[in-house]
Amino acid sequence: MEAIVYEEFGGPGVLHLARLDAPRPGPGQVRVAVRAAGVNPLDHKIRSGAMEPVFPTALPATPGAEFSGVVEEAGEGVTAFAPGDEVLGWSATGSYAAEALAEESSLAPKPPDLSWAQAAALPVATDTASRVLDELALAEGETLLLHGASGGVGSVAVQLAVARGATVIGTASPANHDFLRVLGAVPVAYGSGLVERVRELAPQGVDAVFDVSGRGALPESIELRGGTTDRIVTIADGDAAELGVAFSSGGGGPSAGRLAENARLAASGELRVEVSRSFPLADARSAHEASEAGHVRGKMVLLP
Ligand SMILES: NC(=O)c1ccc[n+]([C@@H]2O[C@H](COP(=O)([O-])OP(=O)(O)OC[C@H]3O[C@@H](n4cnc5c(N)ncnc54)[C@H](OP(=O)(O)O)[C@@H]3O)[C@@H](O)[C@H]2O)c1
Repeated sequence: MEAIVYEEFGGPGVLHLARLDAPRPGPGQVRVAVRAAGVNPLDHKIRSGAMEPVFPTALPATPGAEFSGVVEEAGEGVTAFAPGDEVLGWSATGSYAAEALAEESSLAPKPPDLSWAQAAALPVATDTASRVLDELALAEGETLLLHGASGGVGSVAVQLAVARGATVIGTASPANHDFLRVLGAVPVAYGSGLVERVRELAPQGVDAVFDVSGRGALPESIELRGGTTDRIVTIADGDAAELGVAFSSGGGGPSAGRLAENARLAASGELRVEVSRSFPLADARSAHEASEAGHVRGKMVLLP
């Protein structure tokens, strides 16, 4: 099978297409023919070697956490899925490949009305957004400040927060403000003067802050929360510990039940999944360059 592989940590140039033996499923696993693979910033962070202290990666490696595809083979003891089933979920072997293994427990059925690309874009974004909104205990009638609202996680978090009855003030560059309005957020530009702009939009203050972006907005967030770090969660800012802010890392593992529910919402149109760019699998390098540039709207996918 074809797969993207890297033998050393480094820039996007270390990624190349290779021919590998198809993986065989162990007990509790299935082998899936990948139809689309979601691209996440974590993929390039791991590829660069920056995540070695946290997630050591054995080389050679195939990137990619999430995918959609068709089950080809079920391992011993698998009961929920059989060959021919259309699924989405988390890959155990790297999703930038024609075939990948997954634990049965990390898959959900793909609703027929959901495209392969949209399905592959769902697992990481929806799981992360749902988890953090729960951690923030965001409730109806509250105001959430969301840093990085137009990207993969942010665009989903806006919609799930609005569905809870919250008002969402979302940061993005002006080019993405109409997109945020369509998702249901009140857009605001990030950067210098943010505290004043948010105060103008929410004179009563913000009840919670979800920092998706991780680009240095925690001090302003604390100021906007009246000096407390309570109900501020970041998923990407390395200064969190120093500032006493909670960092959510998803250590409890993904939830297939939550994924199935979010897939149902996406298929029915209640959750918009924005896939702004797709690339052939062989061009994973371009996808990583775009991801590292940091201005992707919604998600990108690779198509084997
Ligand atoms: N801890 C976890 O469990 C977890 C899970 C998933 C992701 N993450 C991390 O969370 C981060 C976001 O992931 P993602 O997939 O949503 O990323 P992404 O899709 O690559 O985010 C891109 C978005 O960031 C926006 N952006 C760029 N500079 C910004 C700034 N200074 N302030 C606010 N927004 C800015 C861009 O908007 P404009 O184009 O309008 O500038 C773009 O829409 C990554 O660092 C990722 O590794 C962590």
